[in-house]
Amino acid sequence: MAPYLLTESRTKISAPGVVGKDILELLSSAMYVDPLSIFREYIQNSADALDEAMELRLYRNGSQPVIEIMVDPLARTAIIRDNGAGVPRSAFARTLTSIGGSRKRGTKARGFRGVGRFAGLGYCQTLIMRTKSVDDTQVSCMHWDCKRLKELLRDPADLSLYQIIQEIVEIERFPADGFPRHFFEVEMRNVMRYKNDMLLNTIALESYMAQVAPVPFYPSFLFAKDIHNFLAGHNIAKNYTLTLNGKPIFRPYDNTYEARP
Ligand SMILES: Nc1ncnc2c1ncn2[C@@H]1O[C@H](COP(=O)(O)OP(=O)(O)O)[C@@H](O)[C@H]1O
Ligand SMILES: [Mg+2]
Repeated sequence: MAPYLLTESRTKISAPGVVGKDILELLSSAMYVDPLSIFREYIQNSADALDEAMELRLYRNGSQPVIEIMVDPLARTAIIRDNGAGVPRSAFARTLTSIGGSRKRGTKARGFRGVGRFAGLGYCQTLIMRTKSVDDTQVSCMHWDCKRLKELLRDPADLSLYQIIQEIVEIERFPADGFPRHFFEVEMRNVMRYKNDMLLNTIALESYMAQVAPVPFYPSFLFAKDIHNFLAGHNIAKNYTLTLNGKPIFRPYDNTYEARP
C-alpha cells in the first residue's frame, strides 16, 4: 500500500499562535547559568558601541573610548556606561523593544541575536536604559518595570509578549545638558542579593571581568607586549578601557604569584 501522504491537503495557517509572556523569562534569568553574565552582555554591547563610535570618528579632542561600571551595594544599584555611538532618538524605542532581531548579524560586532540587553531583567526591580547619539539634543530613556514583570509572569492570565512590554516599559526624554556628547548606560535599581551579593561585590566582579572582558594586560606584565603582538597578528588583540568604580580592570596575568598552601 502506498504511504499516506498529506502533501496535497496541506495549507498555510491563517493566524500565528501567541508569543507568550514567558519568552521574557527565557531570555533573561532562565538563559544564564551565572548571573554575572549580565555584566558580560552589557560589556559586549558597550564594546560594539565603542567600535561603532571609532568607525564614525567620534573620539576627538582627547576623548577616549571607555566603559565604566559603577556598583553601589548601599544604594543597591549597578550602572554600566559607555561613551560609544549610542542609539539615535529616531531608532530608540524600536531598537530597544525589539526581541531577537539584531542588526549586528553578519557584521564584526559581538552581538547578533538581539536579546543580550534583557539579561538584567530578572535581577533587579527597575532596569533603565539611557542614551544619546551625537546628533541628538535630548537624552532618551527607557524604564523596564521588572517588579511588575515578575508579578505578571506569575499571574495566570495569558498575556502576550506585546501586552507585557506595553505594560512594563515607559519612555521618557529630557534635555541633554550635563550629559556626554554620545553615550549609552544601563542602570539596574534594587539589585537582587544573590549568594554573597556577587552582583554588587566588587571583588567578585573584578575577578569575573578580568577573565571574560576584553581588557588589556597589566602594563607591568613582562609578556604583555609579546602576547599582544602575537594576538594582533591574528586580529584578536582588541581591548578596551574598563573601570569598576573608577579602578581600571586588567587581565589576571602577572609576573609573580603568591604561593598559598
Ligand atoms: N551600549 C549600547 N550602545 C549602543 N547601542 C546599544 C547598546 N546596547 C544595546 N544597544 C542596541 O540595542 C540592540 C540590542 O542589543 P542586544 O539585545 O544586546 O542584542 P545584540 O547585541 O545581539 O544586537 C543592539 O543591536 C544595539 O543596537
Ligand atoms: Mg548584545
